[in-house]
Amino acid sequence: IRVALIFGGESSEHSVSCITALGVAGAIDSARYEVIPIGITKTGQWTLCDIDKTWTLASNPEVLLSDEVRPSIGGGNWVTASGRDLGKIDIAFPVLHGPNGEDGSVQGLLQLCHVPYVGNGVLASAVAMEKSKAKALFSQAGLSVAKGLVVGELDFKRDAADFLARCHAGLELPLFVKPSRSGSSVGVSKVHSFEALGAAIEAAFQHDNTVLVEQCIVGREVECAVLELESGALEVSLAGEIVVRGREFYDYEAKYLGGGADLLVPTSLSDSELTQMHELAKRAFRALGCSGLARTDFFLTSDGFVITEVNTMPGFTPISMYPSLWQATGLSYPKLVDELIRTGLR
Ligand code: DAL
Ligand code: MG
Repeated sequence: IRVALIFGGESSEHSVSCITALGVAGAIDSARYEVIPIGITKTGQWTLCDIDKTWTLASNPEVLLSDEVRPSIGGGNWVTASGRDLGKIDIAFPVLHGPNGEDGSVQGLLQLCHVPYVGNGVLASAVAMEKSKAKALFSQAGLSVAKGLVVGELDFKRDAADFLARCHAGLELPLFVKPSRSGSSVGVSKVHSFEALGAAIEAAFQHDNTVLVEQCIVGREVECAVLELESGALEVSLAGEIVVRGREFYDYEAKYLGGGADLLVPTSLSDSELTQMHELAKRAFRALGCSGLARTDFFLTSDGFVITEVNTMPGFTPISMYPSLWQATGLSYPKLVDELIRTGLR
């Protein structure tokens, strides 16, 4: 079975995606699957490339801070960059994070090309990527979400004072400011004063033209992994927890450069908390119309679980929660990848 592994991409999570691709390529059962690596450069060119399996994140941590792409995605175009022909593709495995990849655009392209693919479809990908829209669907499905306000760039430029006044009147400090569509906390900041809010909103507009301002949720940061089996049944993993150390929040550096957070996999929740988390994760999965996989992120507060987001293509780097949670639950990395492909081919 020939699997086109599509990675890289134009988003700010380009490098993370390259490392996710390494993780998946390393775990795939090569007796059963042939991997065709297709890298999308930061400028959007599709290239057939080779994956350098000797490359490790541990020895190259700087890659996640720079624009340089390793394993490298060179020039050229989709089909013939390395002189090879793409050949027949049985299934595509898009391991792209962020806009123009995780947001339904690539999924739509694959659908147009009649190529089956792993993971979420157009609608779920698009909605999950747009946090402001996903929150509305979560609320409708009875899940708790952070209190917040949404603003578009044009409206903010027209009357910033009005929006800032609404934040002041309706929200309590500290606040999180997030681009509506981004991942890995790129463009996110935490502000402790209303004076600092305007600049934080401007910074988030560098990444999207819609921005969320949310009240900080106090609680334990817990996540779980959802997997749709070939049979259509939904399995949910044990819970993982992020314990941030010496930082304001679980930001990009803490996520990938190590040292700023401890990942507890699995973490201890009471039986009833775990049961509730599983029920909410499935409800969120269905609310967005997901398929294949998702990682669902919550805060466990004194009032119960508050959902922050569903990631339709979670990271598969060596330090990512999604594969680690499955490993802890008893599903090995190669079996996980196999199940994802089987479900995608169904
Ligand atoms: N957005 C990153 C890749 C994640 O959710 O793991
Ligand atoms: Mg995310």
